[in-house]
Amino acid sequence: MNIDGQPYRTIFPDPDGVSVQVIDQTRLPFAFVLTRLATLEDAALAIRTMIVRGAPLIGVTAAYGLALAMRADPSTAGIDRAVATLAATRPTAINLRWALDRVAANLRQVQPEERFARAYAEAGRIAEEDVASCRAIGVHGGRIIADRHAATGRPVTVLTHCNAGWLATVDWGTALAPIYAAHAQGVPVHVLVDETRPRNQGAALTAFELHGHGVPHTVIADNAGGHLMQHGTVDLCIVGSDRTTARGDVCNKIGTYLKALAAHDNRVPFYAALPFSTIDWTLDDGVREIPIEERDGREVTHMTGRLADGGFATIEVVSPGSPVANPAFDVTPARLVTGIITERGVCTASAEGLYGLYPERRTAA
Ligand code: MRU
Repeated sequence: MNIDGQPYRTIFPDPDGVSVQVIDQTRLPFAFVLTRLATLEDAALAIRTMIVRGAPLIGVTAAYGLALAMRADPSTAGIDRAVATLAATRPTAINLRWALDRVAANLRQVQPEERFARAYAEAGRIAEEDVASCRAIGVHGGRIIADRHAATGRPVTVLTHCNAGWLATVDWGTALAPIYAAHAQGVPVHVLVDETRPRNQGAALTAFELHGHGVPHTVIADNAGGHLMQHGTVDLCIVGSDRTTARGDVCNKIGTYLKALAAHDNRVPFYAALPFSTIDWTLDDGVREIPIEERDGREVTHMTGRLADGGFATIEVVSPGSPVANPAFDVTPARLVTGIITERGVCTASAEGLYGLYPERRTAA
């Protein structure tokens, strides 16, 4: 997608052919900085500290991280160590594990001296597949927005939570891909962007990328969505996912579940958009089975922002001494999800729906 007319991807091979460049998302929206990842440690740190984030991008970065590890230690023990290091960075997004398994299986088939080139090329393929999947999600989901516009004759207002745009993937995004597709076709669309406390991915990242691409949007406080749905302001909700189970339970950024409850109560269609790499076919009951990342309480007690003079400051916002909790994700049960938008089409949030789109998984399961 574009930033001020210039197309970018979130991760791309460095011209040196042995490292990768990423957009440092901890510096957005106030500074656009590229950073180079050259080692396993660089990649693990980038994922852990959220220089890169968003389930598909975490997966691609982990794939490149495994490649970078092969430059230093291409032994079989080196593969195991690198996989363990990268897998431990963030526990909820299944794309991380999926990408590591795919690259590691590939590496075990070749001799150590071939492993760096093999992994680097495979990571590149995963990145290209992610772009293709997200583009296809945009085509399928874009139809839902276009149909809504055709039915009402009004601009379509879409509420989204967190950042599931191109910054969370390699390009296009998941939840925002249908919005970019509709916008490109001239369908009038307006996005309500949840700020997404505590890390404000909506206010900082979703707003940044929609603004950069010229898509009309409004940032709202996380607590405003229910009220706006009650008053008919929201046509539909589209969110991303960090892990979706085989029966369609959708795990996504904390607060997604509350939006789904409000959408259900107000008969607002609620969609999750995700590529195949986000589906965990080994799990059914998302509420009980998906590990939820607990992050540093400092994300709740403190906020960082830009001052009027252009400097930056981190301030305390919670009464000193009060304990805090910071679960990073929640699970929306399938019964609250109107449909799942994938690269293969739209299905119901159910085992029938998902296995219908991915029949090859039925035999694998
Ligand atoms: O903690 P984050 O910022 O990595 O969480 C990201 C989200 O929850 C996204 O909405 C999700 O990964 C969907 S990704 C396209």
